[in-house]
Amino acid sequence: MIMGSTTFDIIGRVLPGRKTVVMTRNPARCSDSADLVFTADPPEAILADLSDQGYTQAVVVGGAKINQLFAQKGLLDELILTVSPYAFGSGLSIFSDSVDLKLTLKRFWTLDDNTLCLRYGVVH
Ligand SMILES: NC(=O)c1ccc[n+]([C@@H]2O[C@H](COP(=O)([O-])OP(=O)(O)OC[C@H]3O[C@@H](n4cnc5c(N)ncnc54)[C@H](OP(=O)(O)O)[C@@H]3O)[C@@H](O)[C@H]2O)c1
Repeated sequence: MIMGSTTFDIIGRVLPGRKTVVMTRNPARCSDSADLVFTADPPEAILADLSDQGYTQAVVVGGAKINQLFAQKGLLDELILTVSPYAFGSGLSIFSDSVDLKLTLKRFWTLDDNTLCLRYGVVH
């Protein structure tokens, strides 16, 4: 899982069973686990490093700033959206700036009676 430091600080913990890469301009932040890495590396270096470690899939969890960094470099292969039965606040963008991604719907399924998951492929 790759995420920005704001998102990591909101989640507040490492989710079990997966490696968490946190993007920050302050990579000296302390980690007490090999499964939690703070890095100032750019997206392509992070992906290359994960690949060298044997990982074949990475999920960019957000937020908008980190999604934008990967999108603008053409590094996203899929966009997975969850539509949940809550309306609150004034909305958050998926990306922090303008993007232009052509998507094809690959799959959709329900997570429960009210929650829909949409899996799009990014056309490169
Ligand atoms: N609905 C969802 O599925 C979902 C998912 C994720 C997040 N969110 C929401 O999105 C919001 C956070 O999104 P956000 O866009 O404000 O923040 P973010 O993308 O989570 O993190 C931004 C931080 O990432 C670091 N960063 C940014 N550019 C960088 C770069 N080029 N190199 C290294 N580090 C870099 C900086 O951290 P430093 O300040 O440490 O340098 C920056 O403050 C929260 O409200 C969260 O709840 C929602």
